[in-house]
Amino acid sequence: MLLEIQNLTKSFTRNGAPFFPVKDVNLTAEAGQFISISGHSGCGKSTLLNLMTGMLTPDAGIVAFDGENVFDMSTNRLAAYLNQDIAYIMQGDGLLHSLSVRDNIALVHAIHHHEDVPHERIIQLAQSLGIEKLLASYPSQLSGGETKRVAIARALLNQPKLIVADEPTCNLDPRNGENILEIFKNLCDDGTAVIVSTHDRRFSAITDYEYVFEDH
Ligand SMILES: Nc1ncnc2c1ncn2[C@@H]1O[C@H](COP(=O)(O)OP(=O)(O)OP(=O)(O)O)[C@@H](O)[C@H]1O
Ligand SMILES: [Mg+2]
Repeated sequence: MLLEIQNLTKSFTRNGAPFFPVKDVNLTAEAGQFISISGHSGCGKSTLLNLMTGMLTPDAGIVAFDGENVFDMSTNRLAAYLNQDIAYIMQGDGLLHSLSVRDNIALVHAIHHHEDVPHERIIQLAQSLGIEKLLASYPSQLSGGETKRVAIARALLNQPKLIVADEPTCNLDPRNGENILEIFKNLCDDGTAVIVSTHDRRFSAITDYEYVFEDH
């Protein structure tokens, strides 16, 4: 099993009282599976994604990647997990605003492999996402949907085993949204696992499983 989440629980405190956006969650993802997570705004989708990517630590439970508990990883191993094994497209843009679009796309690869990324590879990725004209621009000069596509390009560069994407089609017009769906579907067909949180009903038609946060 590529990813196995067992009895995952996370609480926050609001107005002095604890509440549990993530409570006893179990979820598995195998290589090549396309999984969506849905539920109303504020139900805990991003919190769950932050836990599965090791950005948050849980109150209880396990997130195992290839059999290794993410919360037992050393700092170095966790960095490699986040930057090489998986890619996390966060709900915010997650871009460095002092770097160009090109350098934002290349950054994680450059840090991890200590080498620059072949220019053709960046061009090819940018073309597949329709952002090739923006490579010399800076994040503050982009629209919301363009920013999202830059974040997706960066995530795809390292060919991760698992892509975790938080509302990847929000801010996108129908055509660009369809393109992202198709890119993710093709990645799954090639063996990558993809987990998205989304309000976009189009995912239901193509995902293997849909997890729905129940109202409570
Ligand atoms: N660090 C935090 N401290 C306290 N409460 C938090 C914290 N982070 C998130 N929350 C709360 O936890 C709940 C779940 O938040 P989360 O971001 O996971 O929701 P979501 O399902 O992703 O919503 P959306 O669809 O709007 O993105 C919300 O009520 C939010 O206000
Ligand atoms: Mg969210």
